[in-house]
This record gives sequence, structure tokens and C-alpha cells, in this order.
Amino acid sequence: MHEELSRDFSLEGRIAVVTGAASGIGRETARVLAQAGARVVVADLDAQGLAETVALVVGGQAQARVTDMADRAAVDALADAVVAEFGRLDVWINAAGILKNTPILEVAEPDLDRLLAVNLKGVFFGCAAAGRVMRERGGSIINVSSAGADTTPPGVSVYAMTKAAVNSLTRSAAKEFGPFQVRVNAVAPGWIDTPMVTYRFRTAAGEIDAAAREAVVRQCAQASPMGRTGTPRDIALAMLYLASDASRFVTGQVLRPNGGAVMP
Ligand SMILES: NC(=O)c1ccc[n+]([C@@H]2O[C@H](COP(=O)([O-])OP(=O)(O)OC[C@H]3O[C@@H](n4cnc5c(N)ncnc54)[C@H](O)[C@@H]3O)[C@@H](O)[C@H]2O)c1
Repeated sequence: MHEELSRDFSLEGRIAVVTGAASGIGRETARVLAQAGARVVVADLDAQGLAETVALVVGGQAQARVTDMADRAAVDALADAVVAEFGRLDVWINAAGILKNTPILEVAEPDLDRLLAVNLKGVFFGCAAAGRVMRERGGSIINVSSAGADTTPPGVSVYAMTKAAVNSLTRSAAKEFGPFQVRVNAVAPGWIDTPMVTYRFRTAAGEIDAAAREAVVRQCAQASPMGRTGTPRDIALAMLYLASDASRFVTGQVLRPNGGAVMP
């Protein structure tokens, strides 16, 4: 690859925070950003999963920090700790999220509150903490949305609603932070095989109902003109583009790596 183009995609010398990095998309994103040269701080509620992520990052360019994204003070402390240690913050990825499949008439208020706290307030806290710090020298914030924000499938109303709000917040933050050269974009994946989407196929015995899972995967694959569902790396590569200077004139956008399954 030409040197100039390598520079555009390189994250050499950059400091990145990835939330929800103990699993799935966040974990693979941390790996890819580190492969591109970034030093990565991985944050999640799950300490064990974070340790596994750090071990998977080539060259050990990662540091773990247990953080509840629903706790504003903890999120602010994460941003401050990164700046105190590295002197800068260039990329912040809000990948932490939860999913619960429940029809509207059966949604219990504590579940509603937790989904809003993590998927909505957590992303808001992340944007605010990163924006506050990045005002000094610019940066890139990426919020993880979902194809569900556009398709609003039955049974996931609260989740879809939080992701639609994330798209809206992305645009607001892009406008407010743009003058400081802070770009804010969202990535809205289609079906990606991670623990998040497999939980609902768990039987009472704690095993995954492979046939039920396979049926849903087949249905999702058929919705894509490419005939397949996605992988965490498919999404992490979209994150790399938005994190790097390759996307330097892109802000306020929702990028949809979904194999063409949704084209709003
Ligand atoms: N898997 C998919 O098909 C899919 C599709 C569209 C969007 N997404 C989104 O991608 C993101 C990552 O999901 P995933 O599929 O990798 O799921 P995952 O369950 O594998 O990973 C989510 C991570 O978020 C962490 N987390 C949950 N609550 C947290 C909190 N309060 N504070 C900090 N960390 C917390 C979990 O511990 C977990 O490690 C989510 O925002 C999800 O909504 C996933």
C-alpha cells in the first residue's frame, strides 16, 4: 500500500477507548484498532472478559478498566484517567449495550430502565465525556447503533428505540462538537454472531438451542443480498475507517455494515 494511504488509515500514536470491549464487537474493535497502531483502553463491566480481550490484543497494546457505562461519574473518571495517563484521547467507541427481547405489553419497568440506562444514557455519558476531553485537540467518537433502529422488529421495541435515539444523539453531537474538530458518527450493524444475540436461544438447561439459532441466522442471511450475516470483524473494520483520518470529512453519519440487509 502507498505510504500516504497507509498514513490515512493508521492509528499509530493514537489513544482509543472502546467500551463494551469484554465481548463481541467491542472486543474485535479493540483488536483491530491496536492492529492499526493505537494504544487501546478497554472498558466494560466484565473484568474477566476484559482480561481475555487484553490477552487477544497483539503486542499487549491494551489496558483494561472496569466501568459501568450507566454510571456518569465512572464514565467521566474513565476519560480523565486516560488523559492523565496518556496525555491525549483520540478515539472513543461506545460499543457497550444490552438487548432484551420482550413484547411491549410485557416489558417490566426495571428492564426498561436498565436498557435506557446502558444503551441510551451510557452512550450519552460516553459522548459527553469524550467530547469534553477531545475539545482540546479534536478526535473521533463512534456510537454503536443497530439495524434495529431502522427496521424496528417486533419484540425489541425498547432496544430499537434506544438505537434510534443513538442515531439522533450522533447528529446532535456532530453539530455541537464539529467546531472543535471532533467528529461523531454511528455504526449500525446488522445481525452479528455474538453472545448478545445468542442469549435468547439458551435453553432452561443452559445450552444453546442450535436449531432455533440456525433458523434465525438463515432468515437474517436471506435478508442480505450477499446471503450472509456479519462477523465482529466486519464491524470492527468499519470502526477503523471512522476512527482514522481516512474518514476525516465524515461526521454526523450512520454507517450501516449489514450486507445490504437494510437500505433505509
Ligand atoms: N450482535 C449484533 O447482532 C448487533 C447488531 C446491532 C448492534 N449491536 C450492538 O453492538 C454493540 C456490541 O454488542 P455485541 O453484539 O458485541 O454484544 P456482547 O454482548 O457480545 O457485548 C456487549 C458488551 O457490553 C458490555 N456491557 C453491558 N452493559 C454494560 C455497562 N453498563 N457498562 C459497560 N459495559 C457493559 C457487556 O459486558 C459486553 O461485554 C451493542 O451496542 C449492540 O447493541 C449488536
